[in-house]
Amino acid sequence: MKVGIDKLGFYAPKTYLDLETLAQARNVDSHKYTIGIGQKKMALPSYSEDVITMALEAADSILDDLDKQSIDTVLFATETAVDFSKAAGIYMHSLLGLKPSVRILEVKQACYASTGALFMACDHVKVHPSARVLILASDVAWYGFETAGEATQGAGAIAMVVSAQPRIAEVFEGQVITENRSDFYRPSYSSIPVVDGKLSIESYKTLLKKVEMKVSFPYICFHMPFAKMANKANEILEFPMSDENLNIIKDYGSEIGNIYNGSLYLSLLSLIMKANEDLSQQTIGMFSYGSGAIGEFFTITFSNDYNKAIHRKHIDSMFENRISLSIKQYHHMMEFYQEREASSDFLLEDKYVYDHQKFVLHAISKGHREYKRI
Ligand code: COA
Repeated sequence: MKVGIDKLGFYAPKTYLDLETLAQARNVDSHKYTIGIGQKKMALPSYSEDVITMALEAADSILDDLDKQSIDTVLFATETAVDFSKAAGIYMHSLLGLKPSVRILEVKQACYASTGALFMACDHVKVHPSARVLILASDVAWYGFETAGEATQGAGAIAMVVSAQPRIAEVFEGQVITENRSDFYRPSYSSIPVVDGKLSIESYKTLLKKVEMKVSFPYICFHMPFAKMANKANEILEFPMSDENLNIIKDYGSEIGNIYNGSLYLSLLSLIMKANEDLSQQTIGMFSYGSGAIGEFFTITFSNDYNKAIHRKHIDSMFENRISLSIKQYHHMMEFYQEREASSDFLLEDKYVYDHQKFVLHAISKGHREYKRI
């Protein structure tokens, strides 16, 4: 039985900061960000958005009635948890119209949790072939103003449905490498992560070098804390990708920034949307990395109908008509975000809702978050 990714949805906030604007404000040569780090823009959560609204938008864009009847498990991968106890997916349950008997869990291991969830979902479907699993990967990569990581921020969510006879791609068992490392972590007392970026790049490369890759692949999608990381990863491979193909798998990442758990799957979406050829029956590599650290290399083979299973127009429209922020607006929006995330009471003002949004964080009441479909 073939098992793998049947649907793939994505959501990024419309609001973004151009890296040229950030470079000017920080008095840095813009080529450092655009060439050295490889980023063009960073998506940022607007006033009514958080990891849950982003996951809701991504899931809502792909789920139909059959999914809602057959999904029996939801796995929400995030390192931007809004609660130490309650799983983020519980807030989404009724808004998505999922059945009452669904199991919902939050999973964590830095940016790798989504891949861990994918393999758990595939195993679940192998045992229960009629079941579907919804995987959500939603994060806000926020390091703080004037930090070394500031140029590598971003926000966005991926939603995937895993099933038997998948329409996008069959997923095959990978090679996992786990080592205890201190490159990136976020202790419970801190609202921003502790990151040693250079050590993280080194750890990523060390784990990737341990992968036994006996054949070459036309494309390898990478986890990308910043787009240039894909170049660094590609150049240490025995069989590197062509520059043309490398640019295809990096394209969306450079437009959105780091979205942690969704990053590898955004690279996959970039390939599906931007490849200049039919990918049917092609097998590609996928490298997932989560600081702390786990690396996993695995392969997927595209189905014949993969293109029909992607909402191309919806995804294209997300990258059009985005709202560019000034540095002042960026400061205001992220100060607002930090303050709201640290509050136990909050009420959204209508002026902070954009037309394209279907879901908003409407209020926080004694710490309980209230979401609305609008
Ligand atoms: N023109 C072109 N390139 C330039 C440049 C210029 N004017 N100025 C600098 N660069 C290059 C540097 O040579 C370097 O390239 P290299 O990595 O190939 O050597 C690159 O730009 C970055 O410069 P660097 O001085 O290393 O930047 P930094 O000290 O500000 O740190 C990161 C960059 C990516 C390490 C930092 O932003 C970070 O820690 N981000 C968090 C990423 C992370 O680890 N996330 C968690 C894991 S998922």
